[in-house]
Amino acid sequence: GTTLGASAAEKGRYFGTAVAAGKLGDSTYTTILNREFDSVTAENEMKMDATEPNQGQFTFTNGDRIVNHAISRGMKVRGHTLAWHSQQPGWMQRMEGSALRSALVNHVNRVASYYRGKIHSWDVVNEAFADGTSGGRRDSNLQRTGNDWIEVAFRTARAADPGAKLCYNDYNTDGINAKSTGIYNMVRDFKARGVPIDCVGFQAHLTNSAPGDFQANLQRFADLGVDVQITELDISGSNQANAYAAVTRACLAVARCTGITVWGIRDSDSWRTGQNPLLFDAAGNKKPAYTAVLNALNEG
Ligand code: G3I
Repeated sequence: GTTLGASAAEKGRYFGTAVAAGKLGDSTYTTILNREFDSVTAENEMKMDATEPNQGQFTFTNGDRIVNHAISRGMKVRGHTLAWHSQQPGWMQRMEGSALRSALVNHVNRVASYYRGKIHSWDVVNEAFADGTSGGRRDSNLQRTGNDWIEVAFRTARAADPGAKLCYNDYNTDGINAKSTGIYNMVRDFKARGVPIDCVGFQAHLTNSAPGDFQANLQRFADLGVDVQITELDISGSNQANAYAAVTRACLAVARCTGITVWGIRDSDSWRTGQNPLLFDAAGNKKPAYTAVLNALNEG
């Protein structure tokens, strides 16, 4: 193939990017988006603060702009994200206990129901595990409603949109470490007890390289019977192109690695200001990292 999306499709994968609704009027941006990518993730527009700014009052205008852009062009949509400790609306940040639990369930139900049939994969729960060596849950208002909040979110999402793949998504979980093992144990438990989970997202916000056991980590999750996806890839540093190729090859080497999403199009679109971690420069030119990914997709 001659584009990221077409080349990935030849290998049975998708190649996506995070999209900001406010940039859809930028023709340099949309030209690259429409040419190269066959999947999109809303960078902020489907988060809890964006979709339920006041309790019980839902707004999907900006999310819809992204979904409509994608679906009208045959692109997949990854939903991001139904439940997260961060980017909660103020009213939810101030909530706790059973009232918060009810609000969470209502939020998951309403947002997943609204987009039913349009979402390829939902990041049902984002970043719920702690950094460091505990392997345990992150403290948050959601966690303090009870350890079962994650499975309740997944069961609610399944009921609301039975056709979407339901993912758990996190960062610093790309290699085999205490945090990824904590998630691995949760997924194994969910599969054993019939809690609906279909995929695990590895954000892959990296510097210079992926962990040496990146592929082995993807594979151990796949062996639990879930798909794996690279969900927010960006890589800074002088070894950028090689690292992008290595991540791409690792995904292709794992049968259940179904796709890769980069977290933005041009370096100037990245949340990592000044780090130039993406595949296109600020002017929209292809970088060596782009060519490295394209070549890796077309190998073999
Ligand atoms: O929309 C407001 C704007 O009205 C206001 O004037 C401006 C002033 O600060 O802020 C704008 O909101 C910002 C928003 O991005 C849109 O640009 C927020 O402050 C800013 O916090 C927000 O950052 C996003 C971040 O998540 C929030 O946690 C980044 O764009 C987004 O790339 C980033 O994405 C996360 C994933 O969701 C989860 N994994 C990590 C990843 C990187 O942090």
